[in-house]
Amino acid sequence: MKGKELTRQDIIDLLKLDDFTPIYEEADRIKCQQKGKEVLIRAIIEYSSYCQMRCQYCGINGENRKAIRYRMSKDEILKAAFGAIDAGYRTIVLQGGEDPVFMTGEILEDVICEIKAKDKDVAITLSAGELSDEVLEKLKKAGANRFLLRHETADRELFARIHPGKTLEERVDRLRAIKSLGYETGSGFMVGIPGQSLESLADDLLLIKELSCDMAGMGPYIAHPDTPLAGNPTGSVELTMRCVAIARLLLPNANLPVTTAIGVLDMDKRNSGFAKGANVVMRKVTPEKYKAAYQIYPAKPVKTDIKKERNELEEIIKSMDLIPV
Ligand code: 5AD
Repeated sequence: MKGKELTRQDIIDLLKLDDFTPIYEEADRIKCQQKGKEVLIRAIIEYSSYCQMRCQYCGINGENRKAIRYRMSKDEILKAAFGAIDAGYRTIVLQGGEDPVFMTGEILEDVICEIKAKDKDVAITLSAGELSDEVLEKLKKAGANRFLLRHETADRELFARIHPGKTLEERVDRLRAIKSLGYETGSGFMVGIPGQSLESLADDLLLIKELSCDMAGMGPYIAHPDTPLAGNPTGSVELTMRCVAIARLLLPNANLPVTTAIGVLDMDKRNSGFAKGANVVMRKVTPEKYKAAYQIYPAKPVKTDIKKERNELEEIIKSMDLIPV
């Protein structure tokens, strides 16, 4: 298939392969050629667990009465950001639920300006949901560089079912708006959402290609007990890694993370993801008192020691003969 555009059927056939090794090798070859040995490490600050959305899979969806809600103050966000910069991080990802208090962009605008005032070369990535054109523009002007908004699934009906009141078209429209405003744009999807098929995964991969994504995050679906989709089986890490590898074939120059959800399930696989097409990893630097409340999917609570975790991760990356950045 080398040198030819992958069709939907090609992708389905690849996903089904008994032995995927040659594709992983090809993805690694392209990654090394395009990205060298660098592994980009990002710091995530989860600034709010309030959310007006009702995503059926997500632990912080607005209808989960059991979710603990918090909203970090501007000073708390800045303290976490500066702590991450001091520890060596060059990208700060600001992520939150669709919290109306943040969706006007005022707080984020101030936060962005203050981070840039401290170090203008630190990149700021927003992962803040479906924002209006006006707010997206304001935050871009303030200095935000990148925006993450996964399309979650390219299956129109499945999208509507798991996102009550929302449509795939609106989501894709936001992604196009983000791109046209000059943000480096990241989409992505979950693997193993109940009702998803290999055909729809092929469409997910073709959609990130069609959108010319600069970044794409793919993670296995992990059931959260306090959501309408509780009790469903977890998505396959292997199938997720196959999607990452195919994404590398489709978008040779993209930044593709070994997502946190992959890491939660299998530490070793997360590491070897850097040999299968991925070149990015993210670390939570959310203060400990909030971290446990930001449960998109159930995860073991881990302490936050920004410097120590950064150092440990750098050592792991170096031990793989790669260069942490
Ligand atoms: N399992 C795995 N990933 C999830 N996300 C939300 N809920 C879950 C879950 N239960 C992902 C979505 C979202 C990102 C921030 O987290 O893809 O875009």
